[in-house]
Amino acid sequence: MEHIRFMTLERHIIEGERQHPEATGELSALLSDLALAAKVISREVNKAGLVDILGFTGDENVHGEKVKKLDIYANDMMIKAMDHGGHLCAMASEEEEDIIHIPTQHRIGKYIILFDPLDGSSNIDANISIGTIFSIYKRLSPDGTPGTMEDCLQPGINQVAAGYVVYGSSTILVYTTGADHGVHGFTLDPSIGEFLLSHENITTPKKGKIYSINEGNYLYWHPGLKKYIKYLQEEDAATARPYSTRYIGSMVADIHRNMLYGGIFMYPADSRSPYGKLRLMYECNPMAMIIEAAGGRAIDGKKRIMEIVPTSLHQRTPIFIGSAEDVTIVEEFMRKEVNG
Ligand code: AHG
Ligand code: MN
Ligand code: MN
Repeated sequence: MEHIRFMTLERHIIEGERQHPEATGELSALLSDLALAAKVISREVNKAGLVDILGFTGDENVHGEKVKKLDIYANDMMIKAMDHGGHLCAMASEEEEDIIHIPTQHRIGKYIILFDPLDGSSNIDANISIGTIFSIYKRLSPDGTPGTMEDCLQPGINQVAAGYVVYGSSTILVYTTGADHGVHGFTLDPSIGEFLLSHENITTPKKGKIYSINEGNYLYWHPGLKKYIKYLQEEDAATARPYSTRYIGSMVADIHRNMLYGGIFMYPADSRSPYGKLRLMYECNPMAMIIEAAGGRAIDGKKRIMEIVPTSLHQRTPIFIGSAEDVTIVEEFMRKEVNG
């Protein structure tokens, strides 16, 4: 009989940490707390159509966007699952204006987590994939004190772990603790409530055949980007053009698909949105860490996403992310158009 080896997420994290003699086990425990939040959110997402929790609450989030109830639920669940574990000194969420401090009755730890509790939330009502994205840093301020804004505003290169969960045809959690440790995906088996290793050592193709962008904004794009998209639509067998378009409108799911199949996801700046739409700290940095660890690239058009020095929690950045060769080509198109 074929040897079947069940590897749960928890065991994988612990075994990974064992390779570091200096590790205290705190990161493992934090990721386990997070996995619990993901399971609860997954359960709630899966029954979303059954209970009366859909529709707008009427509130707006700090970006002035309408918030759906499931966003708030996911946000609360992330905070509740992680605020008392003793591993964090602060959190920040796309749905909260300010830093989330650890309640004073709980132990203060050495990590910071930033998250987008529910990405792609405009897709909830249509049963389309959505997700959760997270980014973990080590604190800079002294141990034992409450976390600070400076702890939160670190460049992406300082991330010690990043990951996401996609609530799709199945629920998958993907995480990395850096390029040396690879990117791994775990599919939730709802019958036993465990994430099981299903995608070990994910690497993204050097070049893809898919591009993902909201083409409705074409009119407002940079001329170099317009030319690049037209280039992708031309016929050329040698470079496997024309490419296919795929755009879900949930960044996490669009990038997950492209990472597996190869391709490029873009949310550019345009003449109406000079900084693009997506958030550096909750969306772009964690996805950039994962894609780079899988062998891809992530830039803001000119420079590496993870080298941007953040100045505010909710800042936005343009992003071009995916297969390394594809990102390099769009980078060249944009540069040529600027330099003539
Ligand atoms: P969120 O639901 O967290 O606000 O994020 C939505 C984001 C992202 O997931 C997606 O890629 C993008 O918005 C889609 O924007 P457009 O509708 O402008 O294409
Ligand atoms: Mn989002
Ligand atoms: Mn969100």
